[in-house]
Amino acid sequence: MRFLPQVVLPALAVAGEVYNTFDGDGFAACYEVAKVYRPSSIDEIVSIVQDASAAGTPVRASGNGHMWYDTMCSDDPSTIIIKTDAVNGISDLQMNDDGTGSVLVEAGVTFPQLAEWLQDRDAALGYTLVNWNITIAGAVAMGAHRSSLGEDSQVSSAALALDIINGKGELVHLDRDQSNDTWLAATTSLGLLGVIARVEMMVLADYKVWANQTTVDEDDVLNGDLYEEISPYVTANYWWWPGQRKFHKRTYGVVPADHDGDAFQSTFSLTDIEGSLANTLLGSGQNNSWQNFITEGIFYALWSAPNFHSESTDLPLLSWPVYGSAYEVLIGGLYPNQKPEWDYGLHGKTLELAVPITQANALLKRVRELLDQSKADGKAVTATYRSGINIKVLWGFNHAVGVNRADIGAMMFDFPSFKPSTGNGDRFNEECVTSQQFPVRPHWTKNTRDVFKQSVKNLNPDSLATFAAVRKRFDPDGIFKSVVGEILGVMD
Ligand SMILES: Cc1cc2nc3c(=O)[nH]c(=O)nc-3n(C[C@H](O)[C@H](O)[C@H](O)COP(=O)(O)OP(=O)(O)OC[C@H]3O[C@@H](n4cnc5c(N)ncnc54)[C@H](O)[C@@H]3O)c2cc1C
Ligand SMILES: *[C@@H]1O[C@H](CO)[C@@H](O)[C@H](O)[C@H]1NC(C)=O
Ligand SMILES: *[C@@H]1O[C@H](CO)[C@@H](O)[C@H](O)[C@H]1NC(C)=O
Ligand SMILES: *[C@@H]1O[C@H](CO)[C@@H](O)[C@H](O)[C@H]1NC(C)=O
Ligand SMILES: *[C@@H]1O[C@H](CO)[C@@H](O)[C@H](O)[C@H]1NC(C)=O
Repeated sequence: MRFLPQVVLPALAVAGEVYNTFDGDGFAACYEVAKVYRPSSIDEIVSIVQDASAAGTPVRASGNGHMWYDTMCSDDPSTIIIKTDAVNGISDLQMNDDGTGSVLVEAGVTFPQLAEWLQDRDAALGYTLVNWNITIAGAVAMGAHRSSLGEDSQVSSAALALDIINGKGELVHLDRDQSNDTWLAATTSLGLLGVIARVEMMVLADYKVWANQTTVDEDDVLNGDLYEEISPYVTANYWWWPGQRKFHKRTYGVVPADHDGDAFQSTFSLTDIEGSLANTLLGSGQNNSWQNFITEGIFYALWSAPNFHSESTDLPLLSWPVYGSAYEVLIGGLYPNQKPEWDYGLHGKTLELAVPITQANALLKRVRELLDQSKADGKAVTATYRSGINIKVLWGFNHAVGVNRADIGAMMFDFPSFKPSTGNGDRFNEECVTSQQFPVRPHWTKNTRDVFKQSVKNLNPDSLATFAAVRKRFDPDGIFKSVVGEILGVMD
């Protein structure tokens, strides 16, 4: 249970409302905002920002609210939100002879919407760049990523140009230039430079992918060369089941567009029966470690088989590898007659930290030590999330705010866990694993304020100063502020 801060409203202020994340009531992205606008054109967004600029009103753009925790806005109750979902035009698809191309998307365009639009035109997003039901602009703003060492895996690395509405309400056009600080700041702007109104994205001629999965012993991953293991694949990730001392290693590769297969993945899709079962199993583990290990065993067995259906028949695919179009295999969505897990009250918390890949083994071993310690302390912790603990790797990390430009690849350690609906709502392993002994860069939408505060010391001060200078040029009065920007100290 989160408590709302006591805010004294100035006289005549509009009564405030909470702005929630996708998890809904009880999950504030911003504790109190004065108004949520839902414009239908870029011109309308420009005029809302111009009015806000004149009045000194804080502004945040928001796509689908697919973020965790209370870090979207600053704590200023006069903040307004510009919800971008109705500004969602896609245009100007151009394909070159070499199989690459570009397309122009507006702020509210989501990944599944663009994937479908492109597929109808024999094109696709790059395989390391497809993402969940979130906006492309929101992903570019927050440095969202997939998993790959062979290719750039930050969504923003596919941006060819951006139109940003700055703090004066001017539309600023930027073209890709990876050696230019303004461009680098804009491609992980944390929403602090302004509203990203349009993104020109690189696309590819259509193709299919395969997904394969093997089970690996924990020792082999903790002592193995992650870089070597993952380099051969266009994209790959590991799911850790610490109670089983196993990892599922998921790998992907590319095949031509005319290959057989229509596999469709369903990471968050549940039937009513599965939803209530998962709730019962996970809920009963709130104060009971033994129960969590049993539940983990059940989920481990379920996730050993492909969580894929055939898109045409909706029948489960029973053996690896599976083949299908990139979006359906890498992300997928909801199966017919199913709902996302959060609609069943299955909420999660998460903690997501990146370290240079050279530190991957050390971090994983440290996590194992902490897990063992929890057992020795009589409160054994394991994965209390239905798809384990997720390990991703990424390239193209040099776009990240506060990170050294030398690019050696990174490992993203994502520790999601079930958030019970009973008692004080704490997850069983609340305190475990928040290790701050590594030079981590936090994921910008998947960590608490505390984690950001603890991480600042690890970020590169020169890179933060460069970012702060660009921010100041775009938004001298700081109307696009957020608690993340405040914690990083880039708002002055
Ligand atoms: C199920 C799920 C899976 C996810 N998986 C991944 C993953 O694999 N990898 C990963 O990196 N992340 C992942 N995320 C996190 C997600 O990529 C980010 O939180 C993303 O920013 C959400 O985009 P959104 O459009 O929903 O924006 P919101 O959640 O509405 O906003 C997020 C932030 O971006 C800012 N913002 C949004 N739109 C704009 C804009 N047009 N201009 C400027 N600022 C803007 C907002 O002010 C806010 O600070 C996942 C999230 C969910 C819910
Ligand atoms: C994506 O999210 C939007 C807005 O929440 C919703 O209307 C749409 O159905 C979702 N699409 C998919 C494919 O999940
Ligand atoms: C970087 O890009 C900005 C915005 O396009 C431009 O004003 C600036 O001159 C560029 N800087 C360099 C060094 O090219
Ligand atoms: C999938 O993994 C299995 C087991 O390791 C392996 O035998 C098979 O060749 C892999 N298939 C592909 C397409 O990589
Ligand atoms: C766990 O303990 C808390 C505090 O005693 C209690 O409120 C909560 O209901 C318990 N949860 C379960 C599932 O028993």
